[in-house]
Amino acid sequence: MRAVFVSSLVLLLISCGDDDSTPVDSSVDARPFGCPSHPDPLAMPGDDLGGDTWETFASGFFETYCTRCHSSELVGDVARAGAPDGLDWDDEATVRANLELVRFVVGESNEMPPRGDRPSCDDRERLVRWIDADAP
Ligand code: HEC
Repeated sequence: MRAVFVSSLVLLLISCGDDDSTPVDSSVDARPFGCPSHPDPLAMPGDDLGGDTWETFASGFFETYCTRCHSSELVGDVARAGAPDGLDWDDEATVRANLELVRFVVGESNEMPPRGDRPSCDDRERLVRWIDADAP
């Protein structure tokens, strides 16, 4: 029994050591949360987005992936799961006032949403293109 305990302790120590010596994988930074990071513009104002507008695409994107926390209908830290007050993506004017921040967390750091149902990499890029084309 004691031998088993000691050997698992040794294994634990060895695996900790392995973690420390794992070389930094630079591709992880390029694909935060598994999707590419897009610091540079993916579109220009006036580009053909295949018909994507606030009405036809963006509002639905926010409803699917964001408003379960970021909604003007949710009040208080618990209901909002910590999403900051005032950052309500069911409100078009608020989205438009925060396009740079939204672009960053959806298409560059990819940190939003923090959990639950997350958009595909293609959908993230589609939202970034919509923003870069001046959010028609
Ligand atoms: C599960 C709840 C939840 C969902 C869903 C969610 N967020 Fe958040 N969001 C948070 C919390 C909590 C914070 C504050 C802590 C933080 O910044 O990490 C936050 C902060 C933010 C911020 C501010 C970041 C900053 O640096 O000031 C933005 C912008 C944002 N979210 C955008 C979005 C977008 C866009 C979506 C949908 C794609 C989304 N969030 C989905 C919980 C959520």
